[in-house]
Amino acid sequence: MKIAVHTTPHLHKLNYAPQWICALKQKNVSVLECDFHSNGILQKIRQCSGALWHFFHTPFDKISAHKILTAIEYCMKVPVFPNFSSRWHFDEKTAQHYLLSSIEAPYIPSWIFWNKSDALAFLDSCEFPLVFKLSVGAGSANIIKLDTKKQTEKIIDTMFDKHLFPYSFNEFAHPAYSPSKSGIKRFVKRITGALNYLCRNEYPPLNNYYIPERNYVYFQQYLPDNTHDIRITVIGNRAFGFIRRNRPDDFRASGSGLVDHNPKHIPLEVVQAAHDISLKLGFQSMAYDFLKSPGGTFLINEISYAYKSETVEQCPGYWDRSLRWHDGHIKPEDAHIADFIAQIEQGRLQ
Ligand SMILES: Nc1ncnc2c1ncn2[C@@H]1O[C@H](COP(=O)(O)OP(=O)(O)O)[C@@H](O)[C@H]1O
Ligand SMILES: [Mg+2]
Repeated sequence: MKIAVHTTPHLHKLNYAPQWICALKQKNVSVLECDFHSNGILQKIRQCSGALWHFFHTPFDKISAHKILTAIEYCMKVPVFPNFSSRWHFDEKTAQHYLLSSIEAPYIPSWIFWNKSDALAFLDSCEFPLVFKLSVGAGSANIIKLDTKKQTEKIIDTMFDKHLFPYSFNEFAHPAYSPSKSGIKRFVKRITGALNYLCRNEYPPLNNYYIPERNYVYFQQYLPDNTHDIRITVIGNRAFGFIRRNRPDDFRASGSGLVDHNPKHIPLEVVQAAHDISLKLGFQSMAYDFLKSPGGTFLINEISYAYKSETVEQCPGYWDRSLRWHDGHIKPEDAHIADFIAQIEQGRLQ
């Protein structure tokens, strides 16, 4: 058996590929390490029994990976990780909204508006606070609480009449000018960019890694009094759990780095809910983030096929689908590979 794994010379340190390759070699599976962006990639993958690509929540990865993986999986019928079910909504909260609503999952009451008049009309009947989110992003970067109608109107204006760059507001906002060497260089570039636009009608370089977000707004009901969120990561028949405490004096947990791996702090109903959805939708790997509603039920905030593997490995064990506890640390990448190989072997028997 030969499996293709997407690799490049400068992989991000959190990329699953190195550990996937170790796990495959340990199972005596031959590995084709290649850049899935390269020319002729489909001919190479056609010779393989499967293909794995840990693509990230960056515009470049998301634009290319969906197209290439879909050709491999859907047209060439070669099994891939992440499969379509696990990946089509990755790092897109708006897509997750439709996914979670369609299966009537326990999901935080949320609203998406694709035009300005509908969004403004909503403000006549909604209750504040609301949580505004960009569809993309992680680590709480693109999340704000809106306490008033006026604040919300401003966001709606921005999203429909202008745009918002991810990682450009909250504590991530950059000052227009800073007196450092790179700050001055950036400022001069802004001036030349502005002059070129004024005199030559040439748009300034966006000078930003991210793509501007616009023409939608996504709101969630604010769930008060959550001191943490609960992350359940389901890989096959294994559910790992930990909680993430909020930053000090902040309602946001994601990205705080304040993780508690004590399994006693995980309510089993969320483990069950996560297992049920993963089984129902055929997710190979899925992290579910839960928050508690004022009524006491746990509701899903968002989901993601990819996550920081080290934090999952630090869990002291996992619950299977019968909610039986299994002791021991497991590298998520090893679990991905064990399940992926089993899936390919089962396919062969059919
Ligand atoms: N509707 C909500 N009510 C209360 N807190 C929320 C709500 N949505 C998000 N949060 C808090 O904000 C954090 C970041 O939001 P999240 O949607 O997970 O964004 P990210 O994709 O950046 O992780 C969450 O970890 C949670 O603590
Ligand atoms: Mg989150």
